[in-house]
Amino acid sequence: MSSGLRVSILGGGSAYTPGLIEGFIRMKDTVPLERLVLMDIDSRKLAIVGAMVKTMLEAEMPDTRLDLTQDRLEAIQDMDFILCQIRVGGLNARHIDESIPAQMGLVGQETTGPGGFAMALRTIPVMVDIARDIETHNPGAWLINYTNPTGLVAEAIYKACPIKEISICDEPMILQEALAGFVGVEPASLFMEYFGLNHLGWARRVMLRGNDILPVLRQTLQEVPGLNLDRVFGSDVMADPKAQMELENTLRIFRETGLLPSPYLQYYFFTDEIIRHQADSGRTRAQEVMELEKAILADFEEVTAGRKKPELKRGGRWHADMMIGLLGAIAQGSRSVYIVNVPNQGSMPELPYGKIVEVPAIVDASGSHAFAVGNMPASVRGLIQAVAAYEELTVEAALKGSRKHALEALACHPLVPSRETAKKLLDAYLSAHAEYLPQFVGS
Ligand code: G6P
Ligand code: MN
Repeated sequence: MSSGLRVSILGGGSAYTPGLIEGFIRMKDTVPLERLVLMDIDSRKLAIVGAMVKTMLEAEMPDTRLDLTQDRLEAIQDMDFILCQIRVGGLNARHIDESIPAQMGLVGQETTGPGGFAMALRTIPVMVDIARDIETHNPGAWLINYTNPTGLVAEAIYKACPIKEISICDEPMILQEALAGFVGVEPASLFMEYFGLNHLGWARRVMLRGNDILPVLRQTLQEVPGLNLDRVFGSDVMADPKAQMELENTLRIFRETGLLPSPYLQYYFFTDEIIRHQADSGRTRAQEVMELEKAILADFEEVTAGRKKPELKRGGRWHADMMIGLLGAIAQGSRSVYIVNVPNQGSMPELPYGKIVEVPAIVDASGSHAFAVGNMPASVRGLIQAVAAYEELTVEAALKGSRKHALEALACHPLVPSRETAKKLLDAYLSAHAEYLPQFVGS
């Protein structure tokens, strides 16, 4: 590896990219960036986001070389790290993913439930292609993936084309930072005993100098019901209605169970409420994000033209800090602890080997070394095992274009009430997304 890192971002035209670049700027002394390549198939977004990134780099890191490209191989060759945040079919496809179950009175969410299934079928073949390109053209590079659905994508790559890869999600880090802020300590002084799958994980203990802080926190929340959540999570975060609902529900689950959940557990704990909320809002999250993205891109154009100061509204600090911190840990072999998505090699004895699990790991120059987190509490074991089976079948279906596995996958998802419903969902998805599902032709 050269002194500065050579990093590319596939899906670099995303509204999240400038937030990541802010992270590189914050950490420029510890994780210097020699070259940055932004790759995107959407030339318009690439141009807008690219210009914004250029403005940021010129002001803060003028020695970093920036290239914009629509050619994937250019973003793979000669790189140390390839970051990946693609969205196959864009937000229009996400809208379909979310609206088909919503119309059937089911949860319509991009990663959890039927929506995540459809997203996996579209995304997995493209991600495996990317992995194959890396294997052929730059096998020494690291793929850092945060393309959703992260756990399923990681599992497909691990099965079909195992390369140097770590998949990440910012949720566990968000919990850790929020808790640290609330308690008034540095995030690194907390150790989260976290276990599960992506968007389906729990911290069963959070250790601070030998003590688990969760029981005291739970007691505080029970005794102070009107606790000011702005103080816990920050008023910026709480100003976003989606984040507010997610975090309030996270604390509700924690109060009830004593385990600190991923915010995505709300879809399982408060399914009826969420479905009602969905129906009342009359819009999918995809539609909200489309609007948000439009405003963000317009803002970037204003900043680039020098008419406005940058103000990042998507991605944010946690996401960037986790990403850049992880790159630094690999590049410098610093042996830091991160909660990452990695193959189960005994970390979770109640899940199959090779299943991708979200657990703490030491990250160093050779990648991740997952901790053993042991058996799960019986109260959550069944849900995690059921979703693990759904994921395994979905990956199989996406890789093989197998209708049989696809139907089995949906039928055993806890948010799909019957095999009949699974059939209806599958037919609707296969026809609505046919252009992105060539593997299913004739199946
Ligand atoms: C969290 C999740 C990500 C997700 C993001 C945006 O950070 O961990 O997986 O992509 O939220 O969700 P949104 O609904 O705003 O697109
Ligand atoms: Mn995530």
